[in-house]
Amino acid sequence: MKDAQPKTIYLKDYQEPDYWIDNTELSFDLGEEITVVQSKLSLRLNENKTHNNLPPLVLDGTDQVLKQVLVDGKTIEPGQYKLTDETLALPVTQKTFIVEVTTEIKPQENTSLEGLYKSNGMFCTQCEAEGFRKITYYLDRPDVMAKFKTTIIADPKQYPVMLSNGNDIAKGEREDGKQWVTWEDPFKKPSYLFALVAGDLSNITDKYTTCSGREITLKIFTEHKNIDKCDHAMTSLKKSMKWDEDVYGREYDLDIFMIVAVDHFNMGAMENKGLNIFNSSCVLAKPDTATDNAYQRIEAIVGHEYFHNWSGNRVTCRDWFQLSLKEGFTVFRDAEFSADMNSRPVKRIEDANFLRTAQFAEDAGPTAHPIRPDSYIEISNFYTLTVYEKGAEVVRMIHNIVGKEGFRKGSDLYFERHDGQAVTTEEFVKAMEDANQVDLIQFRRWYSQAGTPVITVTDQYDNNNQQYQLTVKQHCPATPGQTDKKPFHIPVAIGLLDPEGHDIALNNAGDTTQVLDVTEQQQTFTFKNIAQQPLPSLLRGFSAPVKVKYPYSRDQLLFLASHDSDGFNRWEAGQQLAVDILEELAEKARKNQSLTLDDRLIQAYRAVLQDEQLDPAVAAKMLALPSEGYLAEQAETIYPLAIHQAREFAKQQLAEALSEDWLAVYQRLQSDKAYQPTAADIAERSLKNTCLSYLSQLGEQQLALLEKQYQTATNMTDKYAALSCLVNAPAEPAKPIAKTALADFYQRWQEDVQVMEQWLAVQANCSLPGAFEHILSLQEHEAFDITNPNKIRSLIGQFAMNNAVHFHQETGVGYKLLADYVIKLNIVNPQIASRLLTPLTRWKRYGEPHQAQMKAELVRIRKQPELSKDVYEIVEKSLK
Ligand code: ARG
Ligand code: ZN
Repeated sequence: MKDAQPKTIYLKDYQEPDYWIDNTELSFDLGEEITVVQSKLSLRLNENKTHNNLPPLVLDGTDQVLKQVLVDGKTIEPGQYKLTDETLALPVTQKTFIVEVTTEIKPQENTSLEGLYKSNGMFCTQCEAEGFRKITYYLDRPDVMAKFKTTIIADPKQYPVMLSNGNDIAKGEREDGKQWVTWEDPFKKPSYLFALVAGDLSNITDKYTTCSGREITLKIFTEHKNIDKCDHAMTSLKKSMKWDEDVYGREYDLDIFMIVAVDHFNMGAMENKGLNIFNSSCVLAKPDTATDNAYQRIEAIVGHEYFHNWSGNRVTCRDWFQLSLKEGFTVFRDAEFSADMNSRPVKRIEDANFLRTAQFAEDAGPTAHPIRPDSYIEISNFYTLTVYEKGAEVVRMIHNIVGKEGFRKGSDLYFERHDGQAVTTEEFVKAMEDANQVDLIQFRRWYSQAGTPVITVTDQYDNNNQQYQLTVKQHCPATPGQTDKKPFHIPVAIGLLDPEGHDIALNNAGDTTQVLDVTEQQQTFTFKNIAQQPLPSLLRGFSAPVKVKYPYSRDQLLFLASHDSDGFNRWEAGQQLAVDILEELAEKARKNQSLTLDDRLIQAYRAVLQDEQLDPAVAAKMLALPSEGYLAEQAETIYPLAIHQAREFAKQQLAEALSEDWLAVYQRLQSDKAYQPTAADIAERSLKNTCLSYLSQLGEQQLALLEKQYQTATNMTDKYAALSCLVNAPAEPAKPIAKTALADFYQRWQEDVQVMEQWLAVQANCSLPGAFEHILSLQEHEAFDITNPNKIRSLIGQFAMNNAVHFHQETGVGYKLLADYVIKLNIVNPQIASRLLTPLTRWKRYGEPHQAQMKAELVRIRKQPELSKDVYEIVEKSLK
């Protein structure tokens, strides 16, 4: 906020620090007005670098008041040090020395939720990426790793629980009645993994015995009122610990592992050593307040943060350009964990769908960047779908290239070589190469080139020679700063189907799926002994994060949707069929022509509904139309209102044409089993509620069904599904019922923060006429709170990301609402402001009048005084 023109940081400028910190001793005297932070740092000259003289020590620090500095016990007077808004520079006279700094901060005024802040009266921290510098002056960079010892001092009545990383080694009481506790973390770590929590908290405790027989204490802390919502997270934690031992041979290393739930949190959660801090929405659940989605998300995120203990903490990043080293790898690990705990094909469908909807859009927009970016203004802006989700796909491709066992050899080598180090993505790839004697030279382009490659496939069958040829061309569109892309190494898994829909053996071993290593700009692959013209099944299992073009007819897609042996591609063929049909409908809608639904889509859905053998979880996915977001991403020029109209029309037609099937499956899946978040039960609920959502389109007839499910549901999944259907039911008589249900829901759950987030979201997503005015009024509701990121995401975020028909309304008021929030949050919480901006950054892809209106809002934001680095960077890139 201080620089008029914030500085760009480049990867090519990376240099090791001049000094290392070996030991960091901290003390926090937590107060209601002032918190006093004292640090004692043992520093040592970095002898890897050549120095003429001893360079000054330049510590990072912002938003604090410097009270005292000592070097080797001697006071440094203000004239001897140099203080700026972002740094403190000290003179150095010895190669090793001790620096002691005292500063004062005001956590209770820190609304950025970065550094030390307060949430519902509890002190907590978020230091990644650069929050530690808001706590004290430090070398706040991940390659500086120190052993931490932390003493917390506070009033025991308000803050009976005081936590930090590692083990608590001493505690006591001071004369003034304040209590103190000292924590020591035996593992060296960068400052971004530091954590502190103090508050009046309850906890549940459990034990885990590791593979080598060590007993670990597990604790989950929350406010007292939420203590009955911690069990699922605890179960998930134990599963994660076991899984990491079984699959990666990784054992936990401290004697205690703690999780704390916090209501005000910018992201999902944080992997601080031994003391993970979680957004409460990613940890708290009980059957009557949390949906299946929440249960699965909690399991995934608990796993993710736990897995970071090795992929992130024991081996960390040299600099923030390497973020995907820990995030891409850890997302890959948590995805495999979820796949093992639940339905593997469904997890793959969800991840690929999410990547293709949201990450592909990012890669096609003004903020596109490689998974290892080469520059940034504000690193917080690079916690992106590209770094996380595409990064995980890149790791998955390596996994597929070297195979499961090869990957394990590679990860073993990586952890063994680099334990205790801060490294780059290069070390990860190198370990994979060395352990497997493979060459990933060309593959490395995935780390440096942005953009989504498009592969165009054509084929030719030669009946005389019984040969089939696939020709694959690859092309990657230009992205900002990268016009010419070199060819990628793309592993394309394919199969060939014979006219009966059976897989054709592709080699003597009888394999029916083969991975084509596409490395050239254009390449032809020949298959011999193919008796009849086959139909190709391309990119099975979504084997690479690319787009595929092949001129399938609708009949061929229908055929693949019912015959492909690859579960992912069966779903994908159905999606492509739907996309093709919906695109045509949207085009007609835009021209005000009359709409009719291609009967093949109805056929495809009927086949799924009548197939009782099909895994209900997969069936539910196959019965979901591509989202408006995915359709938008596919479009050359986006006309969001036409897309919405087309999709609503198709939904309505499918509901009517198959009304008996929807009802039959819905009835068949009724159950009075007690709620359990098992994969099988979740699958049945998801299919049942998919049926309900189609039934809710059917005018008055099915309202009783919705109302009944709303009233009698014994778990939040079913209750919320019914509420959502009621809120979106187009029939006029549904309105008062929906209104009553919303009021009832509020009445029942107003004290429950997580449920209130859901309550806001369901209304923010309503696409019916009149919903926008209602959304506006919710800003004044006491359930909403601009200082709580979850509430912003539930109301404003959901509205802008998932409610296209109101967000993109032709008057432009939807854009204005979003921009107003960006402007307000730019001051309150820059990270959230910058994230909220995302939908507007896509303005160039929209048709008029949207394009001009979206751009105008970006221009208005740019004119604001005191733009944070976060918002400045995104707005500037978007307007380029
Ligand atoms: N490392 C955390 C995770 O992915 C996320 C930290 C987010 N920090 C931030 N400044 N955006 O598990
Ligand atoms: Zn992570």
